[in-house]
Amino acid sequence: MARLPLLDLTQVPGPLGELLRSRPPLDLYRVLPHAPAVAEGFLGLGGAILRRSSLAPELRELVILRVGALSDAHYEVHQHRRVARGLGMPEEKIDAALADPASPLFDEREKAVLAFTDAVVRQVKAPEPLYRALAAHCSAQEQMEVIVTIGFYMLVSRLLENLELEVEDAQAAPLTIERAAAAAPAQQPPEADPPRQLFAPALGRARPAGRLAGRRVLVVGGGQRRTVDADPPVGNGRAMTVLFAREGATVACADLDLASAKESVDWARREGGRAHALQADVSKPEEITRLVREASEAMGGLDGLVLNVGIGNSSRFGTETAEAWDAVMDVNLRAHMLCAQAAAAVMEPGGSMVFVSSTASISPLSGLPVYECSKAALAALCRSTAYATHGQGLRANVIAPGLIDTPLGRDATRNRPNRAARPLPFGRQGTGWEVAHGTLFLLSSESSYVNGQVLIADGGLSISTVRQPEAA
Ligand SMILES: NC(=O)c1ccc[n+]([C@@H]2O[C@H](COP(=O)([O-])OP(=O)(O)OC[C@H]3O[C@@H](n4cnc5c(N)ncnc54)[C@H](O)[C@@H]3O)[C@@H](O)[C@H]2O)c1
Repeated sequence: MARLPLLDLTQVPGPLGELLRSRPPLDLYRVLPHAPAVAEGFLGLGGAILRRSSLAPELRELVILRVGALSDAHYEVHQHRRVARGLGMPEEKIDAALADPASPLFDEREKAVLAFTDAVVRQVKAPEPLYRALAAHCSAQEQMEVIVTIGFYMLVSRLLENLELEVEDAQAAPLTIERAAAAAPAQQPPEADPPRQLFAPALGRARPAGRLAGRRVLVVGGGQRRTVDADPPVGNGRAMTVLFAREGATVACADLDLASAKESVDWARREGGRAHALQADVSKPEEITRLVREASEAMGGLDGLVLNVGIGNSSRFGTETAEAWDAVMDVNLRAHMLCAQAAAAVMEPGGSMVFVSSTASISPLSGLPVYECSKAALAALCRSTAYATHGQGLRANVIAPGLIDTPLGRDATRNRPNRAARPLPFGRQGTGWEVAHGTLFLLSSESSYVNGQVLIADGGLSISTVRQPEAA
């Protein structure tokens, strides 16, 4: 019987409730809302250790098991025994981590980390020889992560023991931990292909570096359109939501299609990120006001805005109508203006806005005048916004992607088969991750002296640096 009442998570309001309900039904999560102000930070640090640290998962689990054993924390040992098994760790090695950290089953690096863990838990400060042994086997980043992991699981084990939380029934496995351990981007070997300019970031596998730590970013159009593709590539908005969360931001992901926004948010959360799904139709001005208010409330403020939302139509020159023109302009341009205006009214100094345009803004080849005009106008809107808000300490820039292999891009190719069947930069289309990385730069403080500009992310298509496409 736990010392604190186990709370009903359906009754926990706001983002914390959403976050906890997305987790497995563990009793630990049912006591956390007793302290809502620290619960989110607690979950955030735990998620970062399990999903984002550079420590090899097996080494991380050895540390956690050892801390659990030294703390006599039955619950923690039980849960992480399962995680270790899920990673394929042999049973005798798990037992050795609990009872015999000098066992010959461990290699020299594991022995050094386990001996260091013992010293920190038992003596607070590890003696010099044990620290030197750790440093001989681990980078500075790994050393930090070992110490943070030890400290966090000392806290967890003391929390579990003092609140007398019991082991749940066998069904309540910590599934998210196992999934995340398998899916952590840092564990997958990047399939670099330098001649094609393909590196880990383009594949969504860059190691996070906290480039948006502490930022609160609203991504408008952060879901992803549904298409006929059975296995669709990542869209720009989804890649942004996931990447910004990986880089330490809290993300409000807004979309007309709430289910799609939730899918982006679920992905970010599975990796330990902080994200909230919001619904809004930004073609309706009153929904924009509500959206910006809800996003700032959900995140406790706002210092980043990305206007990724964009639609097209099929009207070529000669067939355009006033209604069809206005419908695109309302979403691609008016909504961007109204969102920027509403966001600027609440954004903190140091904030940044990014408008997502297209190389259709500088080329007539899409054959869709309203799409091209709406995208071209974003450069002027960004300059107006930058000019009007620089006194508040805000910046505004545009990213203009070229041919990107996203669900939207594939739809465009279905409508215009010659779209990507031509020589392309580096012989390929871009990826949603590449658009997200360009946007990350403009959003982050790394671009602090870039204001009112257009970043064209087209691989050089607009300067004709192309080669024959490879099968896409
Ligand atoms: N893929 C490419 O080749 C390419 C190239 C250049 C520019 N772009 C631009 O990138 C942006 C989007 O890319 P994506 O891959 O994320 O596309 P996407 O179509 O998958 O995502 C856009 C999202 O916006 C949402 N949306 C549409 N209308 C809305 C409305 N009224 N209110 C709120 N949300 C709405 C959609 O539901 C969708 O989830 C667009 O601005 C597009 O013009 C794409």
